[in-house]
Amino acid sequence: MLTTLIKNGTVVNAKGSTFADVLVEGERVKEIAATIPETAAGRVIDASGMLLLPGGIDAHTHMDMPFGGTTSSDDFETGTRAAAFGGTTTIIDFAIQARGTRMRDALDTWWKKAENKAVIDYGLHMIVTDLGECGLEDMDDMVAEGVASFKLFMAYPGVLMVDDGTIFKALRQTSKNGALICMHAENGGVIDVIIQRTLAEGKRAPIYHALTRPVTAEAEAVNRAIALAEMAGVPIYIVHLSSEDALNKVREARDRGLPAFAETCPQYLLLSVEELERPNFEGAKYVFTPPLRPKHHLPKLWEGLKQDNLQVVSTDHCPFCFEDQKALGKDDFTKIPNGGPGVENRLQLIHHYGVNGGHMNINRFVELVSTTPARLFGLYPRKGLIAPGSDADIVIWDPLAPHLISAATHHMRVDYSMFEGFNVTGNVRTVLSRGEVIIDNNEFLGKPGRGSYLKREARGGAWNY
Ligand code: URP
Ligand code: ZN
Ligand code: ZN
Repeated sequence: MLTTLIKNGTVVNAKGSTFADVLVEGERVKEIAATIPETAAGRVIDASGMLLLPGGIDAHTHMDMPFGGTTSSDDFETGTRAAAFGGTTTIIDFAIQARGTRMRDALDTWWKKAENKAVIDYGLHMIVTDLGECGLEDMDDMVAEGVASFKLFMAYPGVLMVDDGTIFKALRQTSKNGALICMHAENGGVIDVIIQRTLAEGKRAPIYHALTRPVTAEAEAVNRAIALAEMAGVPIYIVHLSSEDALNKVREARDRGLPAFAETCPQYLLLSVEELERPNFEGAKYVFTPPLRPKHHLPKLWEGLKQDNLQVVSTDHCPFCFEDQKALGKDDFTKIPNGGPGVENRLQLIHHYGVNGGHMNINRFVELVSTTPARLFGLYPRKGLIAPGSDADIVIWDPLAPHLISAATHHMRVDYSMFEGFNVTGNVRTVLSRGEVIIDNNEFLGKPGRGSYLKREARGGAWNY
């Protein structure tokens, strides 16, 4: 069995940091100690001056996802490869149940999309579009397959949106099967009325995507989702939370002791609505839902991370190329495929703007990008920390390395970066995934298909995590 000794690094977990050597045997961490002799290992990696982080877990990605007449431009190979370059060693992607079909069909489809392609480990959430007659049974069946979480939409009427009764039934089912409901919380009915009125007024440019999705539509839906979960007596997880108003609803619930959890994404922490006004249709690069918000929301979201009213930073990576995919909406903002790229840059951005920027310490950073997603989504302690027995998903991180984010150098299969020209300090040097070095000094050493499907445990959203 291959053994690797990582010497002289600082092991950073959510609970604290220690200067230590780490011995990896096969796919797992075997030992962590102040000094481990070099004779103990077949291969030695010197990590002097480096941080050893548990591999990033991006709990929200959309590889190879059909949307609006096209498909997200990264598949499981290109997307997970890009993730690895950025220090993410696990993604949790979304399978989509097509209306009128069984969830197992969607699971089979997404397994096929991933199986010979993924270069890092992956789990799947199931997007529920229709409970039909067998939906509740199907949910239990999915949980048995390791799909420990379901996403429901309160937006996109006629496509993905489900009604409150369906949401309530699904929530109640999780009190039996232990899964966690993830909610896309925007009031889709109201948004649709505003969109129709806006189109009738001849307003077609990308900025109207944002102007037709008010913060109150998000806050109302977050509030309703939490109320439905409270009535069902189960936890809830709000995905891609974008605004102060929505955050306040999560905070109020948590202050009342409810197990309400929420994630935000780098784009909501770092970009604002003005991006959608870029000339020459470039605003379309920033069309995703919920939309970017006015600038004053950004510090509130950073504060939410600090106060633990937001527990996770994921990316909602859902890339569409500007030239031939975003262009579908050139004459009508409603036809712009919704989504943006980001899976490669999450650790760089949150380390630079969060840790270097004084919003959090390095342990909180690890908690947000790795440990808490592992805990909430049934992967802990296999993933989300560096400890004996855990998977050797280890990022050797150079906290002083400068990096310029650019589409010219990134590895995502998309022709633009939402963070073009951002200069960050702190970047990946080496990435181990289950003991195998898959990235070293900006070189990819992994293989498509080496990533494994992760059967996740349903732990009821880890009430007391
Ligand atoms: O615009 C977005 N966020 N696209 C991906 C689908 C979703 O709602 O997460
Ligand atoms: Zn969503
Ligand atoms: Zn998404």
